[in-house]
Formats: sequence, C-alpha cells, structure tokens
Amino acid sequence: MPAFAYRFRSLLMFLAVAAATPAPTLRQAADRASLLVGAAVRPSLFSEAAYSETLAREFNLVEPEDAMKWRVVRPNAESFDFRQGDQVVRFAQVHGMKVRGHCLVWDHNNPEWLTQGQFTPGQLSYLLQEHIVTVMKHYAGQVLAWDVVNEALDENGHLRDSPWYNRPGIGLSEKGTGYIEQAFRWAHEADPQALLFYNDNGGEGLNPKSDAIYAMVQDFRQRGVPINGVGLQMHIAQLDTNTVAIVANIKRLTSLGLQVHITELDVSLPLDGGGQVKQEDLLRQAEVYRGIVGACLQNSGCTAIQTWGFTDKYSWIGSHSHGTRGAALPFDRAYKPKPAYAAMLDEIVRHVE
Ligand code: XIL
Repeated sequence: MPAFAYRFRSLLMFLAVAAATPAPTLRQAADRASLLVGAAVRPSLFSEAAYSETLAREFNLVEPEDAMKWRVVRPNAESFDFRQGDQVVRFAQVHGMKVRGHCLVWDHNNPEWLTQGQFTPGQLSYLLQEHIVTVMKHYAGQVLAWDVVNEALDENGHLRDSPWYNRPGIGLSEKGTGYIEQAFRWAHEADPQALLFYNDNGGEGLNPKSDAIYAMVQDFRQRGVPINGVGLQMHIAQLDTNTVAIVANIKRLTSLGLQVHITELDVSLPLDGGGQVKQEDLLRQAEVYRGIVGACLQNSGCTAIQTWGFTDKYSWIGSHSHGTRGAALPFDRAYKPKPAYAAMLDEIVRHVE
C-alpha cells in the first residue's frame, strides 16, 4: 500500500475510534486526575431531576451553600437542626461523592438570637465551642474537610470586627488571631480526621490580604496549630484575571505543607438591560475558568476545585449584584454546558494525558 494511502487509513481509523469514544464527564476526568471537583448545593433542589442528575454526573464533591451555616443549623441557642445538612451528606453518599463542610465561624449568616443577644465573652466562648464540637461530631467520618473559619480578614489583611473576635469576642480579642487558633483547636479535638481549612475571598493572588493569610497560617504551622489547608474562594468579576499571581500564592501556601482548595469559584458577567450577556464574554469567561483550573493543576497540593453552584439557574450572583451580573457558572439555565465547562474539562483531560 502506498504510504499516503496507509496514512489515510490510519487517519480514518483514528477518527472512527475518536467518534466512538464519548468525551469523559468532568467527574470522570477529575477522578482520573485524582482531583476533587465540586459544587455548592441547595438540598431543596435535589427534587429537580436535571439538578440532581447533572450534579451526580459531573462532580465528585459537594458542599452545602447554606445548609450547614449557623442560621440554618441553630434555630435557637438550645437546639441543632441538621435536617438540611443531612440531606446533602445523604446525596453525597448515594452518589459516591465527598463532602466539604461550610462553615463554623463567620460573622455572616448567623441567627438573630445570636447577633442581637447580649452575650458575655464567656457565654460566646461556650456557645462557639459547643457549636463546633456538636456539629463536627454529628458529621464525623462524613465530612472530608471543614471551613472552620470563614472570611476573618478584610482587604488590608486586618482582622474584621465580629462577635467572635471583638464584639465582644470569645475572650481572646487582645490576642489577634487567637480566636481563630482556638476555633481550630476545638475543631481538631471534635473530629481529628477532618481536614481543617481557613477560607477567604480576595486573597487569591498576591496582595496585602493574601500576605496576611500567609503570615497567619505560617505562624499556625510553626506553632503546631491544627490546620490543613487554605480555601481560596475565587469569586471573580474581572475577565483579565492574573493567574501568575494565583500560581505563586498557591505555591507559597503549599510550601508550608498545607493543601489548597479552590472553594467558591464563579466568574460573573455583566448583564445588559434585557438580562443577557455578550457571547464574547462567555468565551473570555471560559479562558478565566481554564486559567484557574490550570493554576490549581500545576501544583499537587491544590487538591480540589469547586464552583459556587453549577447552573446559572441557581446562583447567589443575581441577588448579590442586584441583578446587574450573572451567568457565572459552567452550566446555563437549561443545564447545558457552557464554554466554561468545556474549558475546565479540556484543562483536566490535558493534565491527565
Ligand atoms: C452565600 C450564599 O451563596 C447565599 O445563598 C447566602 O444568602 C449568603 O452566602 N462567601 C461565602 C459563602 O463563604 O458562604 C457565601 O454564600 C458567598 C460568599
């Protein structure tokens, strides 16, 4: 057979095999890459078939968007309501997925009885320890990693005012990050197997905030405070995101022996008067997703990539931006994969090859 005919036949065979092999799902590709790929979820939506099917097919990790926050879990000071959180854990178990728990210490999404109550530092300290221990023991063995403390720093890297820190605080307000350290120590006692994370937004690249996070966790590591990782939330509103700085930040954090999880990735787009996005923005958005996934995959210490929701049908961005932004997630409102999905998948597949 002449060489060109041989080459032509090889090409035809290659095309036939390629056509017969369906592209892997995001979850299949992530499993092959030993990567956790997750989404924040609302258990009230599990009854929507497309929601559950897409979630179970495409992700190997879930995190409750709100279901494990104080506001939901603590209807009052005396009791715990685990029903919504349990639904998330059950969904994960049925579908062989891991769970991230979110979050135990935050100055947002707390119930009014807590924020309006006139508690002393001693009472708050008791309440916080009891909360961390009770919630973590309830989910012990079922939650892989917890965001123990969420968003404790402002954009300058200073500690934010909070009931747990200084308003009035749990009695450690003179000690800077002391209340954060205490929360990690209680968490480790409650469930020694769980991975414990500090989670924040705006400190993904290199800036005063990420410097402060780095200094805090470096200090914790040096003094043996039980912390296993840093969550980089990654709520992105810029289409020219600098991944070089993100790569450098992930590198310095993992050099401390910590894991990094991308915990709340979304890339919101401006909406026009009719609530539509520009087609070209969807392509630029895909490149941002590609850059973030690539930044994580470059470093074996970056072990999870999670989006904050997964379908544009249900995303916090709409209310958070008062309707001015949207379309931030990898699936559209009809659960159709967007260019962002294809970019994530492509980046993971290329990493495994
Ligand atoms: C948001 C949820 O998406 C909303 O449903 C809720 O009303 C407010 O909180 N950083 C976090 C998340 O750590 O818990 C926040 O989630 C988004 C910002």
